[in-house]
Formats: sequence, C-alpha cells, structure tokens
Amino acid sequence: MPLDKNNDKIIILDFGSQTTQLIARRIREQKVYSEIHPYTLPLEDLKAIQPSGIILSGGPASVYDEDAPISDSGVFELGVPVLGICYGAQLMMQQLGGRVEKADKREFGKASLMVDYTAGLFAGMEPAPTPHQVWMSHGDRIEKAAPGFTATAGSEHSPFAALRHEEKPFVAVQFHPEVAHTLIGTDVLRNFIFGICGCEASWTMHSFIESTVAEIKEAVGDDQVICALSGGVDSTVVAAMVHRAIGSQLTCIYVNNGLMRINESDTVLRFFREKTDLKVIDVNAESYFLDRLDGIDDPEEKRKRIGYGFIEIFEQEANTLGEVKYLAQGTLYPDVIESVVFRGKAPIKSHHNVGGLPERMQLKLIEPLRELFKDEVRELGLELGLPEEAIYRQPFPGPGLGIRIMGAVTKERLEILRQADVIVLEEMKSSGWYRKVWQSFAVLLPIQTVGVMGDGRTYEHVVAIRSVDSRDAMTADWSQLPYDILGRISTRIINEVRGVNRVVYDISSKPPSTIEWE
Ligand code: XMP
Repeated sequence: MPLDKNNDKIIILDFGSQTTQLIARRIREQKVYSEIHPYTLPLEDLKAIQPSGIILSGGPASVYDEDAPISDSGVFELGVPVLGICYGAQLMMQQLGGRVEKADKREFGKASLMVDYTAGLFAGMEPAPTPHQVWMSHGDRIEKAAPGFTATAGSEHSPFAALRHEEKPFVAVQFHPEVAHTLIGTDVLRNFIFGICGCEASWTMHSFIESTVAEIKEAVGDDQVICALSGGVDSTVVAAMVHRAIGSQLTCIYVNNGLMRINESDTVLRFFREKTDLKVIDVNAESYFLDRLDGIDDPEEKRKRIGYGFIEIFEQEANTLGEVKYLAQGTLYPDVIESVVFRGKAPIKSHHNVGGLPERMQLKLIEPLRELFKDEVRELGLELGLPEEAIYRQPFPGPGLGIRIMGAVTKERLEILRQADVIVLEEMKSSGWYRKVWQSFAVLLPIQTVGVMGDGRTYEHVVAIRSVDSRDAMTADWSQLPYDILGRISTRIINEVRGVNRVVYDISSKPPSTIEWE
C-alpha cells in the first residue's frame, strides 16, 4: 500500500549491510518517511517513487569484486541528492570515476573524524582540530576521488572519510552515521535530509493514520474484511486501524488453540469487549488442536499441525460470514525487507501463522503495518488510543506454548508450563523488568531429574527460563537479569508448581541459538 504521496521520501538502496534498517529508523525518527529497497530496484521504479533523496547503504562486498552488487549508475542522473555510506560511498566513487582499493589496514570500530568543510553534511559542526567520534567498518579505501569531488573530512586511515561534489548534490561518508557510536551521526543525517534534500519533517504517526485510513477506505469500498486476532500487539493494532477506516465491515476472529497462557483467552476477549467496539468471533478449538498434536514431538511437525489447524478453523468460521474479500494482517517492515535482502536464505523455522490462507480463500491482503518497525507499531497503537497494557505486551508466538513444551504436548504438561509461565510473568512485572526485556518465558524440558523434597527423593520435570534483549528478534542476547529475580522465580516455581524440581536459566544468544526453543 503506497503512502501519502505528499510526504517527502528518502529511498535507501540496500547493499546488504547489517545496519541498513537503522538508517531508515534514524531518518523516520526525524519525521521523514524512508523506505529500503534492494540495490537491484529498476531505475524506472526508483524514478516513479519520486524520492527526495537517495542513500546508498553499506555492504559486505568490495566494489571491485566480480560479482559485487552494483546499482544502476543512472541514479546519478535523476537530479536527486545522493548520500553514499561506506560501501555506498565507494560505489559512488567508482561509478563516477574515482578509485577504490584494498586498504593496508582494516579500519574497524571507533575513529576520530577531522572535519575540513563545515557546510553540507557537516553544517554546524566544529572543524579540525576538534575530533568527532565516528564508527568505521571497512577493509577497502577510497584512494582517488571521482572528478568534481573533494574531501570534506578525514580520519587517521581514511584521507577521504567524507566527500562532496562541488556542483552536484552528491555526498559520501566512509563512516556509518546511523549507528549510535557515531556521535555526530544524527546531525549528519539531518543535514542530508533537511539541508541537502530539503525535506520537511511531516511524517508523523498522526499523518500516517490519516493517509492509511483513507487508503483502506478507498481500497475496501463496501466489502467485508476479516482479521485474525491473537491479542498480540500487531494484530490488535491492525484491527484498530482497519476498524477506524471501515467500522463494522471488519470482523475479527479469535481462535483459542488451547496453547495459550493462563486465562489468556478470557483476558484478551474481555479486553476487546470492554475496551473496543470491534466485532470479535471467538472460537474455542482447544480439543481440536490437542487431538491433532497427540503424540507428536517433532518441532516442525508440531508447528505445521498448529499452523494448518489454524487455517482450517479460521476458514470454517470465515465461511459463515458470507462473502468476504479481504484479510487484514499484521505484516511488519522487517518481514518485508528480510524477504528481499541477502540475509534471508531458507527460513530457519516455519513462521507463517496464516501462511497460505489468502491464496486458499482467495482473499486480498490488507497490511497496514507493512512499512513500520515494531516500536513504530507501538507508537501507532498509542496514537490510536489503545491502552498501554495492549501495546507493551511481549511478543508471543502463534504456535503458543506448543513450541515451549519440548516433546509431546499433553494437557498435563501444558498445565505445568502455564503455572511456571505465569510465575515468570508476575516476577518480571513486579520487579519492573517485563518492559525492559524483549521476551521472558518458561520452557518445559523433556527430561526428569532427581531432587530431594522433605525426606523424599523426587524424579520430576525441569523448567528452563528464557529472557532475551533484542531490537527486532533477528538477533538477541540473553538478559542479564539480577540474581535475586532469578532466585525468586526459581523458588516460586519449585514450591508452587507440582511436578517440577529443577529450574535452569538459558544463557545462549541468537545466533547461534534462537529465541524460542523449537
Ligand atoms: P526465534 O525463535 O526464531 O523467534 O528466534 C524470533 C521471534 O519470533 C517469535 N516466533 C514466532 N512468532 N509465529 C509467530 O508469530 C511463530 O511461529 C513464531 N516462532 C517464533 C518468537 O517468539 C520471537 O519473538
């Protein structure tokens, strides 16, 4: 769904850097809309977007490699300002007649930048000898500037740490302005988007809601829309957004797959009934799912059965509604770009909660969050008037507790995990840590271990606690939770959850581990 055409847009061509998404986020923080496309975007399409500025991102390749990613050099003929970052800077030099070579010394980490030209990208900044901390990560170096370019800043190992064209609006930086270690990074990006591209800071959640609501209205007309509601942030915000656009033409379906947490279905449904006027159909399919999972312990098979089961139930319910044309879905921006860029090889786990539904039911998709990052979705939810309790829920996977029980899922094992899970939740909330971490939960292991309780020997279940810090779930670190919180969680689980005699803490990062255990 295209955005409001009146907004200025900065288009980022991605050459595969780990930090490309950060560039988009930093720009959006300045209230200017920014979008990432693969470097292969055809020039015609780029032109059609009418960008106010173009950024060539960093990337792992060398411009002189045989199979180096090279964008159309017509980018420099569009009359639009261009900023090259790291690999993007080197590509700009190479395509416009300069020279890039392997450097004797890789420059990686913090470096001191000396600014010679305090206009353009460096407007308002102190000139040399005042050093500015920047972050570098490159093995190649610009040896000769392309004709018309001059250096505007240097570092110890990069005489051309920044360049500008004397007449055209082309600028380049060898360092990464998008990362926090580059202390002048935000100023450099601001100078590009406002000073050089002349953008206005007009992209706000408010304007996003207005334009998206208008687009949904126009696309849907008088037709009916359905939405799978899980109670999670994304589907709740999607539903609120679509509801704002088309009101009662939207019907939401909540499927209780029996793999939810303690009282979760009741809490979620009560929330929607009491706090919103969404039309919600609630389907209790607990025994249907538990039957399908009976005796299944292979993780992928479990995921598939839960996923297909969901599709079947959802389809049955949707078919009772008469003719429905659209499915509203909470696809986020990282899902969209991940599929374009080189990072994604085969998916590590099958992840699509409603994968295949649109084709099977011949539904058209409405994905109003397609351009947003998770934190922007939260901001949007607040702007739409949703309460914080709905907005700051930690992510919960579609297959629910099914993928947090190692081995076969049974009613008894679900009950044990539910009780352990709620203790984690309560302790994280009461200590103020719930919102500090990305996710925190319990996992039930498929082994029993020996313990001693009172005078007797026990042989019971093990629960693992997982808590991670992350920005977008693509990478994650285990949370450094204080020992006293871990201690309380452990004591409470062992005392209160019958059948558990041991609790362990998962201290693995992603990669190489994943956040969920299955
Ligand atoms: P992993 O385990 O792949 O998880 O590191 C990354 C994030 O995705 C969530 N997750 C899922 N979410 N359906 C979902 O909606 C799924 O099948 C699914 N599997 C994992 C996980 O909780 C974490 O936030």
